[in-house]
Amino acid sequence: MTSGENNRFLTKPSDQVPYFHPKVEIPLGTQVENGEVPIPKLFQPFKIKNTQFVNRIGVSPMCTYSSAHAGPDIGCATAFHQTHYGSFALQGPGMIIVEATAIDPNGRLSPEDLGIWNDDQALSLKKFVQFAHAQGVKIGIQLGHGGRKASGTAIYNHLQKGIGKAEFGWSDIPGAIVGPSPISFSTRSYVTPSELTIDQIQDLVQKFGDAAKRAREISGFDFVEIHAAHGYLLSSFLSGTSNKRTDQYGGSFENRIRFLLEVVDAVKDDTTPLFVRVSGSELAPHIEGSWTIEDTVKLSDHLIEHGVDVLDISSGGNNAKAERRKTYQGFQVPLAKAVKEHVGNKLLIATVGKIDQGEFANDTLEAGHADIVLSGRAFLKNPGLVWKWADDLGVRIKHSKQYEWPFYPPPFKL
Ligand SMILES: Cc1cc2nc3c(=O)[nH]c(=O)nc-3n(C[C@H](O)[C@H](O)[C@H](O)COP(=O)(O)O)c2cc1C
Repeated sequence: MTSGENNRFLTKPSDQVPYFHPKVEIPLGTQVENGEVPIPKLFQPFKIKNTQFVNRIGVSPMCTYSSAHAGPDIGCATAFHQTHYGSFALQGPGMIIVEATAIDPNGRLSPEDLGIWNDDQALSLKKFVQFAHAQGVKIGIQLGHGGRKASGTAIYNHLQKGIGKAEFGWSDIPGAIVGPSPISFSTRSYVTPSELTIDQIQDLVQKFGDAAKRAREISGFDFVEIHAAHGYLLSSFLSGTSNKRTDQYGGSFENRIRFLLEVVDAVKDDTTPLFVRVSGSELAPHIEGSWTIEDTVKLSDHLIEHGVDVLDISSGGNNAKAERRKTYQGFQVPLAKAVKEHVGNKLLIATVGKIDQGEFANDTLEAGHADIVLSGRAFLKNPGLVWKWADDLGVRIKHSKQYEWPFYPPPFKL
């Protein structure tokens, strides 16, 4: 025994990580000591199946393009991801949704995407999942396939240097870029995808299911989100502008949503929450066959029937001729509201889109337009966004032991 081991003031260790970390008794981000003041909706806990979320603020999925593009660590998480997601976890969001993670190597948006098509990748994700759990924070993963928009370059190269998307990746390999129909997203910088055969669709359904199993059983994620937004594979099947198939996966509304519903069935389980992200509207009302908010409302009934718990509503991304997304706070709230009014309590709705003020976020929930607020860029700028919003709303929340004491000195009754 070394000195200090029998000290009764030794910090209790967490059992969530294989290294020393102080035990967290109350999950970070939990509302505490609000006195008589009613708890704003934003900080009210909620439960899906057996999973308790301590507040209604989530980190929106955001690609970081920071994984090895080749070699044994291809698609694996690194110390970057641990630091990045760890910085959010330390600040108590109700949930973190990890960036779009590829279920198939050809479905990566760039060579540097995270992947979960093999067990080693799933194991690499486990480190920061455990770290989030050591904070009591719930963490999920977005599973995706880029479809006809796969195989670009990491967007930070693309935007900064004006490089065409299709000049990188695996676009030159015949059959590697796939979609519902041989229609490119934009002929200027994207290749024409090969039309998926029915066998290939079934294979991808299986790959989504296998990836979800790895995410839960190997990485330990609390929930999974299916990426069916922004013009990626599942999203491109939904819309009549990108899906011109004449088989059971194209044509009628029921046929266009079939692939997504099959993925939902393959991914879902009885015990963990299931999220689906869609583009509430393709933002191309002037183009015949485009996906509209009315379609999303209709889809919501099917998602409820298939056991989806949360519909996360974004917009756009499937049409190069679409209207530009707006840039004001909460620009996608009207899409969430339209679906929420239809589904009532049968489905939780997450809204996202330039929400960077706590009051606005709370008002959106208090008005019943959505149940969860996700934020992306505001978290990049300030991982402590939940703390800021709590302060703005006059709410005291639980912070990490290491960070809290300089702000709220405990009563030192030694
Ligand atoms: C850097 C970055 C990466 C993103 N990557 C993803 C992604 O992996 N999956 C996704 O569904 N949306 C992605 N998005 C969209 C965000 O999740 C979010 O919906 C969007 O940024 C609007 O929210 P915000 O204004 O709060 O950032 C990304 C956005 C940013 C800024």
